[in-house]
Amino acid sequence: MEKKIILVTGATNGLGREEAKAFLTQGHTVIIHGRNRDKALRVQRELSAETGNSDVDVLVADLESLASVKRMAEEFQAKYDRLDVLVNNAGNQYGSTWAGTAEGHEKTMTVNLFAPVLLSFLLIDSLKKSRHGRIVTVSSASHAQGGQPYLDDIELKDHYSYTRAYGLSKLYVIWAMRALRKNLREQGVDTIDVNMTHPGMAKSSLGEANQRPWYLRPIFALAFLFASSTEKGAQPTIYAATSPEIEGVSDRYYGPKGEEKVSERYYTPENEKAVWDYCLKVLDPYLN
Ligand SMILES: NC(=O)c1ccc[n+]([C@@H]2O[C@H](COP(=O)([O-])OP(=O)(O)OC[C@H]3O[C@@H](n4cnc5c(N)ncnc54)[C@H](OP(=O)(O)O)[C@@H]3O)[C@@H](O)[C@H]2O)c1
Repeated sequence: MEKKIILVTGATNGLGREEAKAFLTQGHTVIIHGRNRDKALRVQRELSAETGNSDVDVLVADLESLASVKRMAEEFQAKYDRLDVLVNNAGNQYGSTWAGTAEGHEKTMTVNLFAPVLLSFLLIDSLKKSRHGRIVTVSSASHAQGGQPYLDDIELKDHYSYTRAYGLSKLYVIWAMRALRKNLREQGVDTIDVNMTHPGMAKSSLGEANQRPWYLRPIFALAFLFASSTEKGAQPTIYAATSPEIEGVSDRYYGPKGEEKVSERYYTPENEKAVWDYCLKVLDPYLN
């Protein structure tokens, strides 16, 4: 397999750590992103020892800050002349009431939607320098469980609930990535594949640090008992990121059972455009 340069966000825990480990085992150069430098450096040492591949670098950014995402992209570009695969793996779940970032955006939408779209945008030039680049974004089966989109209230100021914020953020990121792919095609760029994945339900620390609504905690505790390992949950993303047989393929959604269908219940071209335009508006200050 050709040696690739792969950036994995949220690689300090759970699925992202497993994905980074697999890419190192495959012999690639892997840049692990984390929000805590000490933790990221510890994971760097551990992965290097576990895989025997010391070609592992670290980037630090808090994805609750879009300015921090921009700094990370600049740091990457200063160090690497190309990127072969961007894995937008990092994600989070927040609490039962609306919470905003220091930059004024709803936290779930920031980490699960704005940050991956911004990072993808800022690294497009690096991906264009790859022989054939890939963007893989980890969504969730919950993209079908957020209910009706509120396109005049994407950040859910008046409609926030924990389930809606997470589910809609994972639906919108699918729409935004498909819009990004269309945008690239319109610019004549056909050497960057854009695909989405989901891990099923995997044992990880997702959302643990932020207080889930009390009534959902027993349900999560029960579901955790039946969840798969992170190793298994990471497989769809590992496949989408490095499998040679899907080079040139875009707009697919891979899960633990292979290719799956995105829920199109609320999809219309107008709805997708509304999400895309909103992302562009939010991201505008960080794009130049
Ligand atoms: N586990 C599941 O069953 C499941 C199901 C569907 C989808 N997913 C998706 O899978 C992806 C990986 O989640 P996981 O289950 O592996 O969760 P996890 O164990 O909590 O790992 C999440 C990773 O993202 C990082 N992260 C979270 N918030 C961040 C922020 N504000 N800034 C920077 N990094 C941040 C975490 O950093 P720290 O190490 O510092 O915490 C960690 O590295 C997410 O997109 C999630 O939505 C998971």
